[in-house]
Amino acid sequence: MVCDRDREVPAEVIDRLCELATWAPNHKRTWPWRFAAFSGDGRLRLGEACCQDLIDSGSTDEAKLAKVATKYARTPTVLVVGCAADDHPTFHDENRDAVAAGIQNLLLGATAEGLASFWSTAPVLEGARTLELCGFEPGVRIIGMIYLGWSADASLASERPPVAVRHITR
Ligand SMILES: Cc1cc2nc3c(=O)[nH]c(=O)nc-3n(C[C@H](O)[C@H](O)[C@H](O)COP(=O)(O)O)c2cc1C
Repeated sequence: MVCDRDREVPAEVIDRLCELATWAPNHKRTWPWRFAAFSGDGRLRLGEACCQDLIDSGSTDEAKLAKVATKYARTPTVLVVGCAADDHPTFHDENRDAVAAGIQNLLLGATAEGLASFWSTAPVLEGARTLELCGFEPGVRIIGMIYLGWSADASLASERPPVAVRHITR
């Protein structure tokens, strides 16, 4: 994604996008999504927490740790989206589906607002330090680290292979 690194994304815009996420389908209305938005120096604190979780999980890859420490400062905001656990295995799985659908709502909303976005995977999906910094309860899985910034490039998204749809009518 190409974005204007110097232009902040207002908190109201982030709140609106998170509200949009909550309109995703959600079996049993468990409201599984959790959101924490990082900007300013908060992005470096997020990097530090992720590094610590990597170290706690046994990582000794210095190059990776150095990258993770600073990479969240590449865009004005990084939104961490988590998914609550559920005791029931089916609802546990479906919570994740609902959160993923919510993230897609959020990404479409971001595009409509003129924001560039990028969905990436957390270095550690259930890292205790990162969950604590985000204010998420234990057991939450991090589903996405969403980079957000005002788009500085009017180019279209990358192309897709042609879609194959089989229509069976009788
Ligand atoms: C659950 C999920 C996790 C992803 N994690 C990463 C990631 O960690 N790093 C990465 O380069 N792309 C990741 N992607 C892919 C990008 O978000 C993006 O879809 C991909 O680069 C293709 O770009 P395009 O959608 O603009 O064609 C992830 C996508 C999903 C759905």
